[in-house]
Amino acid sequence: MNAAQAATGENVEVTPAVGTAPSPQKCHSKVFPYEDFYQAELTKKHKDKSYRFFNSINRLAKEFPKAHTNSEKERVTVWCSNDYLGMSKNKEVLKSMHNVLDKYGAGAGGTRNIAGHNAHTLELEATLADLHSKEAVLVFSSCYVANDATLSTLGSKLPNCVIISDQLNHASMIQGIRQSSARKIVFKHNDLVDLENKLKSLPIEVPKIIAFESVYSMCGSIAPIEKICDLADKYGVITFLDEVHAVGMYGPRGAGVAEHLDFKAHANGRPENTVMSRVDIITGTLGKAYGCVGGYIAGSGKFVDMIRSLAPGFIFTTSLLPAVMAGANTAIQYQKTTFTDRAAQQLNTRYVKAKLAEHDIPVVPNPSHIVPVLLGDAAMAKIASDMLLERFDIYVQAINYPTVPVGEERLRVTPTPGHGPELAENLVNALETVRY
Ligand SMILES: Cc1ncc(COP(=O)(O)O)c(C=O)c1O
Repeated sequence: MNAAQAATGENVEVTPAVGTAPSPQKCHSKVFPYEDFYQAELTKKHKDKSYRFFNSINRLAKEFPKAHTNSEKERVTVWCSNDYLGMSKNKEVLKSMHNVLDKYGAGAGGTRNIAGHNAHTLELEATLADLHSKEAVLVFSSCYVANDATLSTLGSKLPNCVIISDQLNHASMIQGIRQSSARKIVFKHNDLVDLENKLKSLPIEVPKIIAFESVYSMCGSIAPIEKICDLADKYGVITFLDEVHAVGMYGPRGAGVAEHLDFKAHANGRPENTVMSRVDIITGTLGKAYGCVGGYIAGSGKFVDMIRSLAPGFIFTTSLLPAVMAGANTAIQYQKTTFTDRAAQQLNTRYVKAKLAEHDIPVVPNPSHIVPVLLGDAAMAKIASDMLLERFDIYVQAINYPTVPVGEERLRVTPTPGHGPELAENLVNALETVRY
């Protein structure tokens, strides 16, 4: 198996290269059989159909939403990117990245602790703090790291902390909670009655965090943020809201669903007592609607300073490169003042959903920009994804367990402003063919 095959999962048989030294297992029969162990783990993944296959997809900046495959001549239409607004190809973003790259070079030169922080970090954090109307923001290398580092730090430092977590929360939050060793209570997805029952059972004086998302990426559901804030106030809890799939996409300035809920007030100025201001901690990504990479937390000055001072996931890793921070900053500023992309994205989503309904193709119903086409079987989802690619030059990755429960396997379709009616009709006709 060569490196490319290993990466794509094309061939999992391990054949030793000619001329390599005998493995230690052959010399010492009692040595742990590491390679056999790896193979056994992989075999389990193949058996339960959760083994991950990757395709060669090279998204082209000048031909969005097209990509080439491993052949530069072969074009496919990408229908499952989280570059929801095509900002990774936005001319202003690219220009600012080129300028900073030429002036300041490729890397950040170290952790912020050692290398210091450059002007681009500070500008980006100021832009984000303004976006969410919070006192402070801290940028991380990704939102996976931001969620993991923040929840694990908060959960371990707050004495006897209890974290009440939505059943469908992302792996980054689950990992952070696990890492914190805090007590975890799971409430049914978006279920306020279940959440309140769980909160009622906890002593008022114990520190508690409700951890949840605004847009749930695999089913497209949206959290009742305001009502969760009401419960948080009633039971003395702080709220931790992941707006990863909503930043750039909702609200008059793209701050997310919390901002969207007071749309008019935010569109007209800097209102107080909004849903967004009631949420204690907001986390977001620079890697989806903003088209770059990186993550962040936003909250009170003291909270952010505490995480900056204590979280290993922030302290001990090289910071993002200056060009990425400049690009992300441009993307956020751009989306703060432009509504066109968000509107086009929503119209294209509506069109795809309507066409799928016309063809009786089952979609998990939801009010967001995500279109989960339900297939309900891991093997079928993989076959459908492969057929779309091979026969119709359409790339939609199959989503299997453990990302979604067994029996709820799906194709997660994400229209962008570039996926107009013609592409949508191609997709729906292709889906119609592959599902039989
Ligand atoms: C809900 C949610 N939170 C956090 C993350 C991690 O974000 P990032 O890609 O910036 O690491 C993801 C990634 O898909 C996500 O879906």
